[in-house]
Amino acid sequence: MSVAKQNTPKKVTVHTLGNMTLKGEKISMITAYDYSMAKLVDSAGIDVILVGDSAANVMAGYETTLPITLDEMIYHAASVVRGVNRALVTVDMPFGSYQGNSKMALSSAIRIMKETAANAIKLEGGQEILESINRILSAGIPVMGHLGLTPQSINKFGTYSVRATKQMEAEKIIADAKALEQAGCFAIVLEKIPALLAKTISEELTIPTIGIGAGKYTDGQVLVLHDMLGITQDFSPRFLRRYMALGDEIRSAVKQYSSDVKTVNFPNDNEQY
Ligand code: KIV
Repeated sequence: MSVAKQNTPKKVTVHTLGNMTLKGEKISMITAYDYSMAKLVDSAGIDVILVGDSAANVMAGYETTLPITLDEMIYHAASVVRGVNRALVTVDMPFGSYQGNSKMALSSAIRIMKETAANAIKLEGGQEILESINRILSAGIPVMGHLGLTPQSINKFGTYSVRATKQMEAEKIIADAKALEQAGCFAIVLEKIPALLAKTISEELTIPTIGIGAGKYTDGQVLVLHDMLGITQDFSPRFLRRYMALGDEIRSAVKQYSSDVKTVNFPNDNEQY
């Protein structure tokens, strides 16, 4: 075997994830939107990289995820894929690229797969988008579902508060999750729902559930990279664990650089030709 082949990590597939869940091994997932971060995140051994439409918030500064376009998602996803060797790359279908009808959904999904070389797509919603999910799956494109808090529907719900605290909504999410599994989705993101509801869903499904603000019983966890690194500083929901205060570190490094420039402390004699 060549050295290059020996050093290439085994690519994570949708089957890898299913087997991990069967064995009780948790799945780690994180967002990335560009080549450099994706390369770092992949080399850290993360299982799934989500090119989330949260790019609208953390990359473009929009208040909601609604404005980001299919072309913009494709740009981010293609950049991420170029930085990744091992992780499974899943791309969010942006608002407006699949809700119209199943034909539109399929052609958007095909554009993502063709133009980015990603491994799967994710879309938000349950039984109401089943026809689109079926059509995308029938083209051989792996689909990740997304239930609970679905940020593309913010104008319907009005808030980003915890979802499914009432029995009726909880029952609908359970039914939706079962319908998505039955259709053939390979995993489902459960966002901001009570931990015990996420536990019930995870126990009733065989495909992996990936939680964000859904407690510890899901088969995996996902966080937005910029939130967990502390680059975003004005967003502090209870579920968010910050692993770094990178925003503070970046600010102080740039402050130091600026001061070095102004005091002619940079560049020094060794930093010139
Ligand atoms: O867009 C995103 O980052 C997401 C995660 C929060 C799951 O959908």
